[in-house]
Amino acid sequence: MKLLFQKSLKYLLKHPLFFMPKRVATRIWLYGLRSKNIGLISYEAPDQKAVFDRIHHLKKETGMLQEVHEAYQLYQIASSLQRIPGDMAEVGVYTGGTACLLREADTKKTLHLFDTFTGIPEVSEEDTAYFYKGQFATSLQAVKNRLNAYENILFHPGFFPETASIVKENTFSLVHLDADTYRSTQACLSFFYSRMSEGGMIVGHDYTTSAGVHQAFSEFFSDKKETVLTLLGTQCMVVKLGF
Ligand SMILES: C[S@@+](CC[C@H](N)C(=O)[O-])C[C@H]1O[C@@H](n2cnc3c(N)ncnc32)[C@H](O)[C@@H]1O
Repeated sequence: MKLLFQKSLKYLLKHPLFFMPKRVATRIWLYGLRSKNIGLISYEAPDQKAVFDRIHHLKKETGMLQEVHEAYQLYQIASSLQRIPGDMAEVGVYTGGTACLLREADTKKTLHLFDTFTGIPEVSEEDTAYFYKGQFATSLQAVKNRLNAYENILFHPGFFPETASIVKENTFSLVHLDADTYRSTQACLSFFYSRMSEGGMIVGHDYTTSAGVHQAFSEFFSDKKETVLTLLGTQCMVVKLGF
């Protein structure tokens, strides 16, 4: 009797009818996500999983604002630029989550970190109403403590571009712009563009969601040979050309 029961249960669990409700529920769920313009990413390769796991951990530990897939893109871009000469820089450090990620993607290059650490310095009429002066204020010391275990990081606290003159002779392979507003992004592009190595990349966050960031990129590259490529999420990317 017991054996018959076990056999029947096995048969039922393998039967396609058993999976149907699950499949239907999954389809409905996916349809719901798609109607909200949300996609799911599947990552199967062990090295991809390791990066995603690290990103999940960093998000929890640091309060990093980038979405997981954006952080993954940033990590992959930073690791792919190891052979391009030049330093890495980030404007918009906040609690240091993306800085940790950049440092882990490339452990050798000098990483310059620019932030007021007192939050967004100003907003202008070009900016999305969501942003305001003083938003994302944090503690420089807390960020320094967080990044203490890593090497070759230089902090440049204060208002960019006033803090930029110290790196005016440097070249850059990767610049990550996450400063949220029109004027800050404009100042960053004006400063870094001519200092980018050939093949170097500028990655911008909030390009698709912050009107000011979008305008700054569009205006700046309107008379340049490079094009602004929209990535997954809110990011964009520009590859510096050499001819
Ligand atoms: C959204 S937060 C950065 C988030 C961080 N990259 C992350 O993913 O967790 C934006 C930061 O840009 C900084 N910021 C904006 N404009 C700036 C400027 N002109 N100079 C220095 N820092 C600026 C703000 O202080 C704020 O910490």
